[in-house]
Amino acid sequence: MTVHFIGAGPGAPDLLTLRGRDIIAACPVCLYAGSLVPEAILAHCPEGARIVNTAPMDLDAILDEIRAAHDKGQDVARLHSGDLSVWSAMGEQMRRLRELDIPVSVTPGVPAFAAAAAALGTELTLPGLAQSVVLTRTPGRASSMPEGETLSNFAATGATLAIHLSIQNLSRVVADLSPAYGTDCPVAVVYRASWPDERIVRGTLGDIEEALGEGISRTALILVGPALAGEGFAESCLYAAGYDRRYRPQSAESPWSGWRPEGEERNNG
Ligand SMILES: C[S@@+](CC[C@H](N)C(=O)[O-])C[C@H]1O[C@@H](n2cnc3c(N)ncnc32)[C@H](O)[C@@H]1O
Repeated sequence: MTVHFIGAGPGAPDLLTLRGRDIIAACPVCLYAGSLVPEAILAHCPEGARIVNTAPMDLDAILDEIRAAHDKGQDVARLHSGDLSVWSAMGEQMRRLRELDIPVSVTPGVPAFAAAAAALGTELTLPGLAQSVVLTRTPGRASSMPEGETLSNFAATGATLAIHLSIQNLSRVVADLSPAYGTDCPVAVVYRASWPDERIVRGTLGDIEEALGEGISRTALILVGPALAGEGFAESCLYAAGYDRRYRPQSAESPWSGWRPEGEERNNG
């Protein structure tokens, strides 16, 4: 018996991985975080599966469900939104499962920040503008922030910030970031990326609050940084015509000359 943690993706049911789908289809028990996991994904559960929405349950009650499945030798599909590596509560569940000697597997999912960037049609790392993406949040009722992980510290890097769980703190986000980024720094708020009611609001640190108005109070990402402008960046060396690289040696003297990827047949013609 194994508990399979599966990243269910950002919302659109077809943004689930094939591996995730197949594991769900093979598990007689499915526990899903109903606040953000779309119900359409549950259609992959086998007929007669026990399907439980864990949104209203505490950790002990979730563990009770898993223990009951364990006693029957039934595999469990454990679904969380997006990917499991960020804000999924997988860590605390795994710790309990390790104590119980219950095996686990982890299948990644499409994270919300990637779905938001796709909705915007934007690369978050543009040469000369930003080469790092910080996935962060502001403190909430249930979670404080470790000392040092402040928005103003991250702002000092100039990186692209993907700020989660914070749309209700937008004024604070704007106040903390404006000194370093400037009020003309581009911002995009993406609400429910990939869901049918997805909404995008673009602006700057100076006007995003007004642009957003009152309509969006949860399930949104705030993306901030110069890369959001999508212009004024350099082209990368990767596809520059004269750039000597392993996959595109420029001359017979190139250190890469004659190199072929493993498994690729040499063309002697
Ligand atoms: C508990 S975290 C889950 C993050 C998730 N594990 C991931 O990989 O993206 C929930 C927060 O992620 C963001 N989020 C999740 N799904 C989203 C979506 N479809 N569109 C925009 N933001 C989303 C919001 O900031 C939301 O408050």
